[in-house]
Amino acid sequence: MLIDENSKVYTEMWKVTPHVLGLEASIIREILKISSKPGVINLAGGLPAPELFPITQLQKCMSDVVQKYGPSAFQYSLSMGVVELREEIAKRATERGTASTKDNVLITSGAQQAIELIARAFIEPGDYILTENPTYLGALQAFNYYKAQYTSAEMDNEGMIIDQVEQKIKEHNPKLIYTVSNFQNPTGITMSFERRKQLVELAARYNVPIIDDNPYGDIRFEGEHVPTLKSISGDEVIALRTFSKIISPGIRIGWMNSPSDILPHIEKVKQCTDLHSGTFSQYMIYEFLSQGMLEPHLKVISADYKNKRDVMLLAMKTYFPDGVSWTEPEGGLFLWVELPKHMSAKELLPKAIDLKVAYVYGQPFFPSGDGENTLRLNYCNATPENIEEGIKRLAILFKENL
Ligand SMILES: Cc1ncc(COP(=O)(O)O)c(C=O)c1O
Repeated sequence: MLIDENSKVYTEMWKVTPHVLGLEASIIREILKISSKPGVINLAGGLPAPELFPITQLQKCMSDVVQKYGPSAFQYSLSMGVVELREEIAKRATERGTASTKDNVLITSGAQQAIELIARAFIEPGDYILTENPTYLGALQAFNYYKAQYTSAEMDNEGMIIDQVEQKIKEHNPKLIYTVSNFQNPTGITMSFERRKQLVELAARYNVPIIDDNPYGDIRFEGEHVPTLKSISGDEVIALRTFSKIISPGIRIGWMNSPSDILPHIEKVKQCTDLHSGTFSQYMIYEFLSQGMLEPHLKVISADYKNKRDVMLLAMKTYFPDGVSWTEPEGGLFLWVELPKHMSAKELLPKAIDLKVAYVYGQPFFPSGDGENTLRLNYCNATPENIEEGIKRLAILFKENL
């Protein structure tokens, strides 16, 4: 139901705070509503492919959890998270170059909650956050609630341009640097090793911590793994991770890997927010990991997504007119399209929907407010046939409006 802002009850009894009134509904969710109309090829959302959810394995994990843990799987548990899961996550992080114990790991209800906890713990009104331009819209929404301001660095194919990062740090003394360093949402770009080292060095030099939001790093189809920011830093980085894109978003389990002396503060914020993430879900994920189900599953999704990305790239090469360019990610869910400067992806969206294909226009991802001529495409959620057909339709639209 829509809220009637003039209704007596709304204005005189339920006095919603200006903070909340000032929040904008997620543009992606609005676009998803339109794009879920029958017959529309949906290249818009951030959803993983539902047909690849590891249902059989999850069913086994569910019944194992009931058997092994009995009532404690249904009981309240620690705000930091179930110990078995935190130990398993710490062990895996250590094997991959980030020495960790369970005391570095706090379980969250998805990476989105981790962003919210970070914002609550560190951001005061007017504080600057340094981001990529563009960046993940959901982070901007969370930070906006706390009245953050933004300063941002442009990106090239290697990620944030480091000279700009240093200049923005000097100008605005930001509280945090927020980056999506692997297969970024929205652009698909991965920060190079060289840039990572430079970024960590700047963070240490200027005392600005880094939040590395990394939901997509395990979905690499090709190319070399790049060491994470956390693995090349000391205490400059909190890494945010999630099982949403690699197992299932509905389970709502993510985690942060943080310097251990910061976590007691974040733990208090977590307590205020939801006491703890679902005990049952955490045990389920623990079983999934400890029974060795994740690695084969990552192979399945990576192979499928690579195939779909290839179909999209080939279709774009074949049908898109000159003047349109795009990124070629080596993993993740998204790629990024730039139209000639005079075109507005926002204005073209209703026409795209008439042609029964949907995308997310890029402008809301830009803290700077530019990016009119950009759009994000998801290649994971449609069939290869529909991806090709969707790109053909977009090509017609772009040619007509060049
Ligand atoms: C960069 C980034 N961070 C966080 C999230 C939220 O993930 P979760 O489902 O784990 O809350 C997403 C989801 O699209 C994302 O792309």
